[in-house]
Amino acid sequence: MNSNVLSDDSLFLRALRGEDTDRAPIWLMRQAGRHLAEYRQLKEKHTFWELVRTPELATLVTLQPVRRYGMDAAILFSDIMTPLPALGIEVEFKPGPVLANPIRTAAQVEALHLPEAQVIAPFVSETLRNLREESPVPVIGFAAAPLTLATYAIEGSGSKDYATFRSFLRREPMVAHALLELLTEVTIRYLRMQVDSGAAAVQIFDSWAGLHDGPTFREFGLPYLRRVLQAVQAPGIYMGLNTAHLAEQLAELPVNALSVDWRLPLSYWRGVLPGRTLQGNLDPAQLLAPAASLTAAAQAVLREGLGGPHIFNLGHGVIPTTDPGSVELLVDTVRQFDRRVAFADGMTV
Ligand code: CP3
Repeated sequence: MNSNVLSDDSLFLRALRGEDTDRAPIWLMRQAGRHLAEYRQLKEKHTFWELVRTPELATLVTLQPVRRYGMDAAILFSDIMTPLPALGIEVEFKPGPVLANPIRTAAQVEALHLPEAQVIAPFVSETLRNLREESPVPVIGFAAAPLTLATYAIEGSGSKDYATFRSFLRREPMVAHALLELLTEVTIRYLRMQVDSGAAAVQIFDSWAGLHDGPTFREFGLPYLRRVLQAVQAPGIYMGLNTAHLAEQLAELPVNALSVDWRLPLSYWRGVLPGRTLQGNLDPAQLLAPAASLTAAAQAVLREGLGGPHIFNLGHGVIPTTDPGSVELLVDTVRQFDRRVAFADGMTV
């Protein structure tokens, strides 16, 4: 589809900008990936980095779930680790990210260099320019929050409790701040490039925000996030997990929408985040449940989302063993839910 056809009044962008739409737009985190046979087929021939770094393939994978399910938004096929190699941090996927040389010293931070925007990930720019022509729906660009990116850069891989990282923040706070400064600047450049290349919105993934208590998040998380969000001239979504104890700080973020997990209902978040668009928050495990359970759970989320702008999503990514038939049922359930009628019904009960 031509870029002229994609207007700013798409359902997704209207809800993101704060409109209480008649139907909730839907897209799913990790909608492209291993739960799709057409993705697994490409993975037989290419590594994950090859898919991400080859614009024709990344474009194709981004559009796979849009074509199959008719999602209301596409998310760039890439990873939160994508900008790290340009700084001098090599990353492998096994299948989660693994760093040969985790950052643990001031000398290692000093040896990193801040790349110009156009060399951070030129393949992402080309993928987004392809998508500007080919995607029938708005494309979401993304990056990690500086604190979540630092979690991987310092820990070196996924972990149960990120004890190395959490102790590093206390033992070497100055080194941690120096790394966060660098990650913030590269993230700003990287996201501006994505918006310039055609991303209609950006999502900031802060998957590990919830590891920290309030004061630690206020020192190492919030200031850097604020800088990233202020610098990017596009509608933004902030996604965190296990963040209920940080709600007061999240309410300070200059961002249109907050994506929340399933641990608390959307009605709770409406109360603590007045005036914001809420995104979420079905438990991804519901997509592994029988059809009746899935539709009931999705309708419960839809009802909880009434009374303000809502973008339907999961609370976290699609689980790889998810049956595409269940995703189809979920999309139908969300499509059929008339928010105006449901809201009026709620008022008369
Ligand atoms: O959402 C999408 O469909 C867009 C693509 C996307 C990927 N990763 C593709 C991917 C996005 C937005 C991400 C974000 C990401 N990556 C996050 C934040 C969201 C979250 O899940 O908390 C994080 C923490 C990462 C780091 C990462 N990359 C992990 C932990 C893993 C392994 C997890 C897994 O699914 O096995 C990856 C690899 C990865 N990123 C895959 C995909 C499709 C699997 C690679 C493969 O096919 O082998």
